[in-house]
Amino acid sequence: MSITLLNLHPPQADLQRLVRDGLRRKPRQLPAWMLYDAEGSRLFAEICRQPEYTLTNREITLLKQHAEAIADATGAGLVVEFGIGNARKVDPLLTALGSSVFAALDISLSALEEALSGLAAQHPNTAMVGVCCDHTRLQQLPRHPALDGERRIGFFPGSSLGNFTPEEAVDFLRNARQLLAGGPLLLGVDQPREPALMEAAYDDAAGVSAAFARNLLQRLNRDLQGDADPTQFRYQASWQPQDQRIEMALISRRDQTVHLGGEAWFFRNGEAWITEHSVKYSQDAAAALVARAGWRIERSWEDPHQQMALHLLLPAD
Ligand code: AVI
Repeated sequence: MSITLLNLHPPQADLQRLVRDGLRRKPRQLPAWMLYDAEGSRLFAEICRQPEYTLTNREITLLKQHAEAIADATGAGLVVEFGIGNARKVDPLLTALGSSVFAALDISLSALEEALSGLAAQHPNTAMVGVCCDHTRLQQLPRHPALDGERRIGFFPGSSLGNFTPEEAVDFLRNARQLLAGGPLLLGVDQPREPALMEAAYDDAAGVSAAFARNLLQRLNRDLQGDADPTQFRYQASWQPQDQRIEMALISRRDQTVHLGGEAWFFRNGEAWITEHSVKYSQDAAAALVARAGWRIERSWEDPHQQMALHLLLPAD
Protein backbone atom coordinates (compact mmCIF):
# COMPACT_ATOMS: atom_id res chain seq x y z
CA MET A 1 0.00 0.00 0.00
CA SER A 2 1.64 3.31 -1.01
CA ILE A 3 0.46 6.92 -0.63
CA THR A 4 2.50 9.88 -1.86
CA LEU A 5 1.43 13.48 -1.16
CA LEU A 6 2.81 16.41 -3.18
CA ASN A 7 2.00 19.90 -1.91
CA LEU A 8 1.55 22.62 -4.55
CA HIS A 9 -1.01 24.66 -2.56
CA PRO A 10 -1.12 28.32 -3.68
CA PRO A 11 0.91 30.50 -1.23
CA GLN A 12 -0.80 32.70 1.37
CA ALA A 13 0.15 35.85 -0.60
CA ASP A 14 -2.05 34.57 -3.45
CA LEU A 15 -4.98 34.19 -1.07
CA GLN A 16 -4.73 37.83 0.00
CA ARG A 17 -4.45 39.06 -3.61
CA LEU A 18 -7.38 36.91 -4.80
CA VAL A 19 -9.55 38.05 -1.88
CA ARG A 20 -8.76 41.67 -2.72
CA ASP A 21 -9.60 41.12 -6.41
CA GLY A 22 -12.82 39.25 -5.58
CA LEU A 23 -14.09 41.80 -3.05
CA ARG A 24 -13.48 44.64 -5.50
CA ARG A 25 -15.84 42.99 -7.99
CA LYS A 26 -19.50 44.02 -8.18
CA PRO A 27 -21.15 41.84 -7.02
CA ARG A 28 -18.42 40.59 -4.71
CA GLN A 29 -17.32 37.00 -5.33
CA LEU A 30 -14.22 34.88 -4.52
CA PRO A 31 -13.00 31.71 -6.28
CA ALA A 32 -15.07 28.72 -5.12
CA TRP A 33 -11.98 26.73 -4.01
CA MET A 34 -11.63 29.06 -1.02
CA LEU A 35 -14.67 27.38 0.51
CA TYR A 36 -12.66 24.19 0.99
CA ASP A 37 -10.43 24.49 4.04
CA ALA A 38 -10.54 21.41 6.33
CA GLU A 39 -13.86 22.50 7.88
CA GLY A 40 -15.32 23.45 4.49
CA SER A 41 -14.43 20.02 3.10
CA ARG A 42 -16.02 18.37 6.14
CA LEU A 43 -19.20 20.45 5.73
CA PHE A 44 -19.35 19.70 2.01
CA ALA A 45 -19.19 15.96 2.78
CA GLU A 46 -22.13 16.54 5.14
CA ILE A 47 -24.08 18.41 2.40
CA CYS A 48 -23.67 15.30 0.24
CA ARG A 49 -25.52 13.30 2.91
CA GLN A 50 -28.51 15.68 3.15
CA PRO A 51 -31.75 14.25 1.74
CA GLU A 52 -32.35 17.35 -0.44
CA TYR A 53 -28.91 17.09 -2.12
CA THR A 54 -29.61 14.03 -4.25
CA LEU A 55 -26.79 14.62 -6.75
CA THR A 56 -24.08 12.60 -4.93
CA ASN A 57 -26.08 9.43 -4.37
CA ARG A 58 -27.47 9.44 -7.90
CA GLU A 59 -23.99 9.78 -9.33
CA ILE A 60 -22.57 7.01 -7.11
CA THR A 61 -25.43 4.72 -8.17
CA LEU A 62 -24.72 5.48 -11.84
CA LEU A 63 -21.00 4.82 -11.39
CA LYS A 64 -21.61 1.53 -9.61
CA GLN A 65 -24.14 0.38 -12.22
CA HIS A 66 -22.03 1.26 -15.24
CA ALA A 67 -18.43 0.91 -14.03
CA GLU A 68 -17.70 -2.06 -16.32
CA ALA A 69 -19.18 -0.36 -19.41
CA ILE A 70 -17.31 2.85 -18.58
CA ALA A 71 -14.04 0.92 -18.16
CA ASP A 72 -14.62 -0.80 -21.53
CA ALA A 73 -15.21 2.58 -23.16
CA THR A 74 -12.22 4.38 -21.57
CA GLY A 75 -9.68 1.55 -21.88
CA ALA A 76 -6.98 1.00 -19.23
CA GLY A 77 -4.79 3.70 -17.71
CA LEU A 78 -3.87 5.88 -14.78
CA VAL A 79 -6.97 7.59 -13.33
CA VAL A 80 -6.58 11.32 -12.60
CA GLU A 81 -9.40 12.74 -10.47
CA PHE A 82 -9.86 16.52 -10.42
CA GLY A 83 -11.00 17.25 -6.84
CA ILE A 84 -11.17 14.20 -4.57
CA GLY A 85 -14.37 15.37 -2.79
CA ASN A 86 -15.96 12.02 -2.27
CA ALA A 87 -13.74 8.94 -2.56
CA ARG A 88 -16.80 6.70 -2.91
CA LYS A 89 -17.14 7.86 -6.52
CA VAL A 90 -13.81 6.71 -7.89
CA ASP A 91 -13.89 3.40 -6.02
CA PRO A 92 -16.01 1.44 -8.57
CA LEU A 93 -13.93 2.84 -11.45
CA LEU A 94 -10.63 1.80 -9.88
CA THR A 95 -12.05 -1.70 -9.36
CA ALA A 96 -13.35 -1.98 -12.93
CA LEU A 97 -10.17 -0.57 -14.48
CA GLY A 98 -7.74 -2.40 -12.15
CA SER A 99 -5.52 0.71 -12.32
CA SER A 100 -2.03 0.42 -10.85
CA VAL A 101 -1.87 4.19 -10.17
CA PHE A 102 -4.46 6.72 -9.01
CA ALA A 103 -3.69 10.46 -8.94
CA ALA A 104 -6.03 12.72 -6.96
CA LEU A 105 -5.82 16.50 -7.26
CA ASP A 106 -7.46 18.65 -4.58
CA ILE A 107 -7.09 22.02 -2.86
CA SER A 108 -7.51 20.49 0.62
CA LEU A 109 -4.57 18.49 2.00
CA SER A 110 -6.68 17.06 4.82
CA ALA A 111 -9.37 15.88 2.36
CA LEU A 112 -6.68 14.22 0.21
CA GLU A 113 -5.08 12.47 3.19
CA GLU A 114 -8.38 11.15 4.46
CA ALA A 115 -9.71 10.05 1.05
CA LEU A 116 -6.49 8.38 -0.07
CA SER A 117 -5.97 6.42 3.12
CA GLY A 118 -9.55 5.07 2.83
CA LEU A 119 -9.04 4.16 -0.84
CA ALA A 120 -5.60 2.62 -0.25
CA ALA A 121 -7.11 0.15 2.21
CA GLN A 122 -9.60 -0.98 -0.48
CA HIS A 123 -7.09 -0.94 -3.36
CA PRO A 124 -3.81 -2.19 -1.86
CA ASN A 125 -2.28 -2.78 -5.31
CA THR A 126 -2.92 0.77 -6.56
CA ALA A 127 -0.24 3.41 -5.88
CA MET A 128 -2.03 6.53 -4.57
CA VAL A 129 -0.59 9.96 -5.47
CA GLY A 130 -2.26 13.03 -3.96
CA VAL A 131 -1.45 16.47 -5.35
CA CYS A 132 -2.61 19.40 -3.20
CA CYS A 133 -3.16 22.23 -5.71
CA ASP A 134 -5.72 24.48 -7.35
CA HIS A 135 -6.76 21.65 -9.67
CA THR A 136 -8.95 24.00 -11.68
CA ARG A 137 -5.86 25.55 -13.29
CA LEU A 138 -3.35 22.72 -13.47
CA GLN A 139 -2.05 22.13 -17.02
CA GLN A 140 0.49 19.43 -16.21
CA LEU A 141 0.92 16.74 -13.60
CA PRO A 142 3.98 17.27 -11.38
CA ARG A 143 6.98 15.09 -12.20
CA HIS A 144 6.90 11.90 -10.18
CA PRO A 145 8.05 8.38 -11.15
CA ALA A 146 4.61 6.89 -10.44
CA LEU A 147 2.99 9.31 -12.90
CA ASP A 148 5.40 8.77 -15.79
CA GLY A 149 4.55 7.07 -19.02
CA GLU A 150 1.03 5.79 -18.36
CA ARG A 151 -1.99 6.63 -20.48
CA ARG A 152 -4.27 9.01 -18.54
CA ILE A 153 -8.02 8.82 -17.87
CA GLY A 154 -9.53 11.99 -16.37
CA PHE A 155 -12.41 11.91 -13.89
CA PHE A 156 -14.29 15.09 -12.94
CA PRO A 157 -17.46 14.07 -11.08
CA GLY A 158 -19.93 15.85 -8.82
CA SER A 159 -20.99 18.54 -11.29
CA SER A 160 -18.05 20.63 -10.10
CA LEU A 161 -17.84 22.00 -13.64
CA GLY A 162 -20.98 23.95 -12.70
CA ASN A 163 -19.07 25.97 -10.10
CA PHE A 164 -17.16 27.72 -12.91
CA THR A 165 -18.53 30.42 -15.17
CA PRO A 166 -19.01 28.94 -18.67
CA GLU A 167 -15.79 30.73 -19.77
CA GLU A 168 -13.85 29.29 -16.82
CA ALA A 169 -15.36 25.88 -17.58
CA VAL A 170 -14.02 26.08 -21.15
CA ASP A 171 -10.56 27.04 -19.80
CA PHE A 172 -10.67 24.15 -17.34
CA LEU A 173 -11.65 21.69 -20.08
CA ARG A 174 -8.82 22.95 -22.32
CA ASN A 175 -6.29 22.59 -19.48
CA ALA A 176 -7.62 19.11 -18.72
CA ARG A 177 -7.23 18.12 -22.39
CA GLN A 178 -3.60 19.19 -22.24
CA LEU A 179 -2.97 17.46 -18.90
CA LEU A 180 -4.61 14.21 -20.06
CA ALA A 181 -2.46 14.19 -23.23
CA GLY A 182 -4.99 12.56 -25.54
CA GLY A 183 -6.74 10.48 -22.86
CA PRO A 184 -10.51 10.58 -22.22
CA LEU A 185 -12.34 12.55 -19.52
CA LEU A 186 -15.36 11.20 -17.62
CA LEU A 187 -17.45 14.21 -16.60
CA GLY A 188 -20.37 14.11 -14.12
CA VAL A 189 -22.94 16.91 -14.51
CA ASP A 190 -26.17 17.77 -12.76
CA GLN A 191 -28.99 18.64 -15.18
CA PRO A 192 -31.65 21.36 -14.76
CA ARG A 193 -34.90 20.38 -12.98
CA GLU A 194 -37.72 22.09 -11.01
CA PRO A 195 -36.44 25.28 -9.37
CA ALA A 196 -37.99 24.44 -5.96
CA LEU A 197 -36.09 21.15 -5.82
CA MET A 198 -32.84 22.82 -6.77
CA GLU A 199 -33.24 25.63 -4.25
CA ALA A 200 -33.95 23.08 -1.51
CA ALA A 201 -30.82 21.12 -2.51
CA TYR A 202 -28.74 24.27 -1.92
CA ASP A 203 -30.55 25.42 1.23
CA ASP A 204 -31.22 22.21 3.17
CA ALA A 205 -33.49 22.15 6.20
CA ALA A 206 -30.63 21.16 8.52
CA GLY A 207 -28.75 24.35 7.60
CA VAL A 208 -25.57 22.60 6.43
CA SER A 209 -25.40 24.55 3.14
CA ALA A 210 -25.72 27.80 5.08
CA ALA A 211 -22.96 26.74 7.49
CA PHE A 212 -20.75 25.81 4.50
CA ALA A 213 -21.13 29.32 3.05
CA ARG A 214 -20.59 31.03 6.43
CA ASN A 215 -17.45 28.96 6.99
CA LEU A 216 -15.86 30.99 4.18
CA LEU A 217 -15.91 34.01 6.51
CA GLN A 218 -14.43 31.98 9.38
CA ARG A 219 -11.69 30.68 7.10
CA LEU A 220 -10.83 34.19 5.88
CA ASN A 221 -10.88 35.55 9.44
CA ARG A 222 -8.33 32.91 10.42
CA ASP A 223 -6.07 33.14 7.36
CA LEU A 224 -6.22 36.92 6.87
CA GLN A 225 -6.63 38.07 10.50
CA GLY A 226 -10.17 39.31 9.79
CA ASP A 227 -13.25 40.25 11.80
CA ALA A 228 -16.17 39.24 9.50
CA ASP A 229 -19.12 38.24 11.73
CA PRO A 230 -20.94 35.26 10.10
CA THR A 231 -24.08 36.01 12.13
CA GLN A 232 -24.35 39.39 10.38
CA PHE A 233 -24.96 37.73 6.99
CA ARG A 234 -28.00 35.69 5.98
CA TYR A 235 -27.65 32.82 3.52
CA GLN A 236 -29.69 32.66 0.30
CA ALA A 237 -29.83 30.16 -2.59
CA SER A 238 -31.82 31.19 -5.67
CA TRP A 239 -32.39 29.67 -9.13
CA GLN A 240 -31.51 32.05 -11.98
CA PRO A 241 -33.28 30.71 -15.07
CA GLN A 242 -31.52 33.00 -17.57
CA ASP A 243 -28.15 31.47 -16.63
CA GLN A 244 -29.49 28.01 -15.70
CA ARG A 245 -27.76 28.24 -12.34
CA ILE A 246 -28.21 28.36 -8.60
CA GLU A 247 -26.66 31.41 -6.98
CA MET A 248 -25.52 31.05 -3.38
CA ALA A 249 -24.88 34.23 -1.44
CA LEU A 250 -24.37 35.75 2.00
CA ILE A 251 -26.54 38.85 2.32
CA SER A 252 -25.39 41.58 4.66
CA ARG A 253 -27.95 42.10 7.46
CA ARG A 254 -26.90 45.75 7.98
CA ASP A 255 -24.44 48.39 6.86
CA GLN A 256 -21.12 47.06 8.14
CA THR A 257 -17.37 47.19 7.64
CA VAL A 258 -15.38 43.96 7.46
CA HIS A 259 -11.58 43.93 7.89
CA LEU A 260 -9.54 41.28 6.07
CA GLY A 261 -5.79 41.18 5.51
CA GLY A 262 -5.40 44.74 6.81
CA GLU A 263 -8.03 46.18 4.42
CA ALA A 264 -11.53 47.51 5.20
CA TRP A 265 -14.55 46.46 3.11
CA PHE A 266 -17.87 48.24 3.44
CA PHE A 267 -21.09 46.20 2.91
CA ARG A 268 -24.44 47.91 2.50
CA ASN A 269 -27.52 46.47 4.22
CA GLY A 270 -28.87 43.84 1.76
CA GLU A 271 -25.67 43.64 -0.32
CA ALA A 272 -24.81 40.19 -1.64
CA TRP A 273 -21.46 38.44 -1.23
CA ILE A 274 -21.77 35.61 -3.74
CA THR A 275 -20.17 32.46 -2.38
CA GLU A 276 -20.81 30.19 -5.41
CA HIS A 277 -22.68 29.56 -8.61
CA SER A 278 -23.77 26.09 -9.63
CA VAL A 279 -24.62 25.94 -13.34
CA LYS A 280 -26.76 23.01 -14.55
CA TYR A 281 -26.08 21.63 -18.03
CA SER A 282 -28.62 19.79 -20.17
CA GLN A 283 -27.22 17.24 -22.65
CA ASP A 284 -27.27 19.83 -25.47
CA ALA A 285 -25.72 22.57 -23.34
CA ALA A 286 -22.96 20.18 -22.18
CA ALA A 287 -22.21 19.11 -25.77
CA ALA A 288 -21.94 22.75 -26.90
CA LEU A 289 -19.71 23.69 -23.96
CA VAL A 290 -17.24 20.81 -24.31
CA ALA A 291 -17.00 21.42 -28.08
CA ARG A 292 -15.65 24.92 -27.34
CA ALA A 293 -12.74 23.26 -25.51
CA GLY A 294 -11.96 20.72 -28.23
CA TRP A 295 -13.85 17.73 -26.78
CA ARG A 296 -16.80 15.70 -28.02
CA ILE A 297 -19.25 13.54 -26.07
CA GLU A 298 -18.59 9.95 -27.08
CA ARG A 299 -21.19 8.37 -24.78
CA SER A 300 -23.46 9.32 -21.88
CA TRP A 301 -25.09 7.49 -18.97
CA GLU A 302 -28.10 9.10 -17.22
CA ASP A 303 -30.07 8.17 -14.13
CA PRO A 304 -33.77 7.27 -14.65
CA HIS A 305 -34.89 10.74 -13.46
CA GLN A 306 -32.48 12.39 -15.92
CA GLN A 307 -31.04 14.43 -13.10
CA MET A 308 -27.45 13.33 -13.32
CA ALA A 309 -25.41 12.49 -16.42
CA LEU A 310 -21.98 10.98 -16.85
CA HIS A 311 -20.46 12.06 -20.17
CA LEU A 312 -17.43 10.32 -21.61
CA LEU A 313 -15.45 12.97 -23.51
CA LEU A 314 -12.83 12.29 -26.16
CA PRO A 315 -10.59 14.85 -27.87
CA ALA A 316 -12.53 16.13 -30.88
CA ASP A 317 -9.60 15.72 -33.30
C1 AVI B 1 -18.84 20.93 -5.45
N1 AVI B 1 -20.04 21.42 -6.14
C2 AVI B 1 -20.33 20.64 -7.31
C3 AVI B 1 -21.21 21.63 -5.28
C4 AVI B 1 -22.43 22.04 -6.14
O1 AVI B 1 -23.39 21.29 -6.15
O2 AVI B 1 -22.37 23.05 -6.82
C5 AVI B 1 -20.90 22.69 -4.24
C6 AVI B 1 -22.03 22.96 -3.29
N2 AVI B 1 -22.18 24.06 -2.62
C7 AVI B 1 -23.23 24.01 -1.85
N3 AVI B 1 -23.80 22.84 -2.04
C8 AVI B 1 -23.05 22.18 -2.94
